[in-house]
Amino acid sequence: MRKPVIAGNWKMFKTVGEANSFWEAVSGATVDTEKVEAVICAPYLQLPSLVQSASGSAFHIGAQNMHEEQEGAFTGEISGAMLKDLGVTHVIIGHSERRQYFNETDDSVNAKTKAALEQGLTPIVCVGESLEQREAGDTETIVSNQVAAAFEGLTEEQVEKTIVAYEPIWAIGTGKTATADDANQVCQAIRETLLDLHGEEAANATRILYGGSVKPANIDELLTKEDIDGALVGGASLEAESYLQLVEAAQ
Ligand code: G3H
Repeated sequence: MRKPVIAGNWKMFKTVGEANSFWEAVSGATVDTEKVEAVICAPYLQLPSLVQSASGSAFHIGAQNMHEEQEGAFTGEISGAMLKDLGVTHVIIGHSERRQYFNETDDSVNAKTKAALEQGLTPIVCVGESLEQREAGDTETIVSNQVAAAFEGLTEEQVEKTIVAYEPIWAIGTGKTATADDANQVCQAIRETLLDLHGEEAANATRILYGGSVKPANIDELLTKEDIDGALVGGASLEAESYLQLVEAAQ
């Protein structure tokens, strides 16, 4: 039985004050941690206060990126060791915006995934195709190749600890959602790739999320699908009310 994950990705939104107000609005919510893993991935600056506030609560605090080295002369970067030390539990790796605007590659995604796991962080590894690739009928090949590259060299145990987020680039922030069946078909292809490369146990245990214009109105249908184990949510995670509705739908 795979526990569903609802992970909010705030991207480059919210000041510390706004993050604290969000926390005040969600902190009283009843979340059944046996049934759902609720994560909020905030900008680095908001992490210290959120981690402190969320300590002992049902919510996990995640980062949106990290450097693969533990420390070093990498001006402006933050390492997995620093995140772990702070009390962060999850980290998004290889979001399509990082691949597109910050030159992240399958190789850097693989290195960061390994580094996150070595620190005991849960990586949320993002994969997804562009509209052009989808229209060319290449979706499953592109996504399977991204998964194979991201997971290269991981042990079965590490694969099981990693979360995959399938996010078709054309559905991010556009209001266009893949149909639940289309999303499930790609998530199923991801699980088959994991099965081929890492065995049945790892494939069955790994959580695969869908991301791309997820909101309270479409979460229920997505969650009925066999290979969709939750969602990575941008816009709808910024308001406490809609974020909590998504968490509620998953439990
Ligand atoms: O990481 C989240 C995704 O990029 C989805 O963003 O829910 O605003 O479409 P969105």
